[in-house]
Amino acid sequence: MIRLTENEALKGRHTLGVQAYSRYFLETNKLNELFDFKTSHEALWSHHLIIGEGSNLLFKSDYPGLIIHPLPLGIKVINNENDYVIIEAGAAENWDYLVDWTVNQGFAGLENLSLIPGSVGAAPVQNIGAYGAEAKDFITEVLVGDLNNNTSFWVQADKCKFGYRDSIFKQKEQSDWLVWKVRFKLYLDGRTNQRYQGLKKQLKDMLNPGIKEVRQAIKSLRTSKLPDPKETGNAGSFFKNPIISDPQANELLSIYPDLPVYPCDKPDHMKLAAAWLIEQCGLKGHRRNDAGIYPKQALVLVNYGNATGEQLFELAAYIQNTVQQKFEIKLEPEVRIV
Ligand code: EPU
Repeated sequence: MIRLTENEALKGRHTLGVQAYSRYFLETNKLNELFDFKTSHEALWSHHLIIGEGSNLLFKSDYPGLIIHPLPLGIKVINNENDYVIIEAGAAENWDYLVDWTVNQGFAGLENLSLIPGSVGAAPVQNIGAYGAEAKDFITEVLVGDLNNNTSFWVQADKCKFGYRDSIFKQKEQSDWLVWKVRFKLYLDGRTNQRYQGLKKQLKDMLNPGIKEVRQAIKSLRTSKLPDPKETGNAGSFFKNPIISDPQANELLSIYPDLPVYPCDKPDHMKLAAAWLIEQCGLKGHRRNDAGIYPKQALVLVNYGNATGEQLFELAAYIQNTVQQKFEIKLEPEVRIV
C-alpha cells in the first residue's frame, strides 16, 4: 500500500537526527504501485530522493521535494549448494538483522559487517565496509527498479562498478534507480576473515573462533569506538579515507613518520586514515553547540541533541579547511549532504 504524507518530520528518519521536513514523503512495499503513482503524479518527481534508514545522510535544511522510502521486506535462501548458499533480502530489511540471521543459520561472510547501521538496500549503493570486509565480497546481484522508464531488472555484481564506498548506484546517470532486493553468496564451511589486525588481537586467546565469535568480537570493537545512533546522533564515518599518490604519501611520511598508510585498489596510490589527520589537527572531541567530533573516533561527527543540519555542515567544512591547511589533503564527505 502507498502512503503519501506532506511535511513529514525527518528527525526520526535518519541517524544524525537533525530536525528537517520533507515536502512530500512516500512509502510503499510494491514496486508496481510506485510506478503507477509516478505515472499519475509526474510533477512530484522533478525533485526526489530515495532513502533507506538514513544512516548516511545529512539534511542541511528542509527537503523541498519528494522523499521515497521503499519498503520491500523478506529474507530467504534461494539456492542451496554443497558449500555455499545464495540468499535474497528485501532492501528495507535492517542490515544488522540480516547479519544476525545469516550467522544464526551458519552462513559465513557478513559477520565482519555486524552492527553497521542502515538497511540492506544501502549495502550495494555505498558498498559498505568494515573490519576487512566489504559488501561487494558477497553481493551476486541487485534487483533495481528504474523510475525513469518503470522497469525492473537484476544488475550482476560485475556490472555494479563497486569501489571503496562507491558503486554504479551512486552515479548521476543512475539517480532514478532504486535498489529493491539484494542477493548474497555466503559460505557453509565456517570460514572466518581475520585480516583486520584489531580483530585478530581480539580473538587471539580463542581456539578456532567461528563466525558467532567473530560477530561478537566485531560488536565489542564497534561499541568501544563508535557511538550508537540510538543514543547519540551520528552517520558513522563522515569523510572517506583519502587516497593519495605514492609520491605524495612518501612526502608526508618524511614529515610525519607515524602517518598511518594502507594499500588500496588504485595502482601507485595509498589510503590514509582521515581520523588520524583530523586528530593531528587537535580536533578530536571538538564541540560547537550540539555539533561535535566524537571523542573516541575523530572521523565521526555527532549530534549531541539539538544540532541543526547547518551547524553540522559548518563543522564539517571547518574540519575540511583545517586538514587542507595542515596536510594539503581534501577530505571528501562519505555522508550524502542534501
Ligand atoms: N585513528 C586516529 N584517531 C582516531 C581514530 C583512528 O588517529 O580517532 C587512526 C588510527 O591510526 C587507526 C586508523 O586511524 O589505526 C584507522 O582507524 P579505524 O580502524 O577506526 O578505521 P577508520 O579508517 O577510521 C574505517 C571505516 C569505518 C569502519 C572502520 C573499521 C571509512 C571511511 N571508515 O574507519 O566505516 O568501521 O574502518 O574497519 O572507510 C563508515 O564507513 O561509516 C564506518 C564507520
